[in-house]
Amino acid sequence: MSASAQQDDQVGAAEVPSPRAAGHRAARPSRARFLLRRAHSLSGVVPLAVFVVAHLGRQASALDGPLEHERAMASTPWFDAHPAIAIVFVLLPLGFHALSGLAIMRSARPDVQAYTGNRNWRYVAQRLTGVLTLGYLAVHLRQTWIARQLGELSMSDHYGVLVETLSSTSAGLPWRAALELAGLAAVCFHLSSGLWGFGCTWGLTTTRAQQRRSAIAFGLFGVFLYAYAANLSLHLSTGARVVERSLEGSSPFAWQESASA
Ligand code: HEM
Ligand code: HEM
Repeated sequence: MSASAQQDDQVGAAEVPSPRAAGHRAARPSRARFLLRRAHSLSGVVPLAVFVVAHLGRQASALDGPLEHERAMASTPWFDAHPAIAIVFVLLPLGFHALSGLAIMRSARPDVQAYTGNRNWRYVAQRLTGVLTLGYLAVHLRQTWIARQLGELSMSDHYGVLVETLSSTSAGLPWRAALELAGLAAVCFHLSSGLWGFGCTWGLTTTRAQQRRSAIAFGLFGVFLYAYAANLSLHLSTGARVVERSLEGSSPFAWQESASA
């Protein structure tokens, strides 16, 4: 598809048009398409971005060892006992956001040669990391939430399974941990760059100066979020702590040690 299709896809965004794009201003999306774009955009922030930040905050209890993790997981029994809550408030919005994201991607293609510059690369990276996030979540949900719903493991098994999987090696190499770090990078980029895009979509940041400031703010947020998530993931896979939290001697391998004692 041509550059004009890409421009049509970006019409919802209140970005300052580049001089090269100005010739395509006539292209306007239909009302249904406009509403779909808005619903897609909103679902990316509420509930998804809010969920990811809260979820990582809760999972970070694993830095304090298996008991703390289990305690944190048991702190929201209403959420855990009723899968419908996770389905309605997290998984359905996620499914909607992913499907509408794929539909948006199908209807317009990047044209990095006709439209050069950071905006275009962000446009491509946003879509690429959306697909990578989908792959990450497929593996992650099968291993955690779906496994629990199928009765393959209980809430207290999560910690051990995470440690076992993330610390595994194949041909002497920690592929699983490396893939986890790559998946988390895709999620954090998609989320922080998406928050920048959200400001444009809803007309919250309209001038170049505002968009530059929000790029710096959300860029820093993305780096911080990735450091936070990667620190947790590295701890589960190696026992290392890049950032100290609190309890001493809370090795992620304690569950194995106590099991073999
Ligand atoms: C190192 C980071 C992470 C850890 C240790 C972790 C761990 C877990 C665990 C143990 C569960 C199962 C909870 C249950 O059985 O109810 C879970 C569920 C889930 N995770 Fe993660 N997770 C991480 C990162 C992420 C990220 C980045 C996302 C989103 C992109 C995500 C999305 C979900 C979703 C949607 C669920 C199902 C709903 C829920 O139970 O909260 N997780 N995760
Ligand atoms: C928990 C996971 C996810 C979160 C937190 C999230 C968040 C966001 C946010 C905040 C936006 C910005 C919306 C805007 O520009 O106004 C966005 C855009 C986007 N997302 Fe996601 N997303 C997630 C998963 C996915 C998945 C699985 C896909 C599909 C494969 C996807 C595809 C897209 C696409 C294509 C865009 C760009 C839309 C555009 O530029 O118009 N996202 N996402």
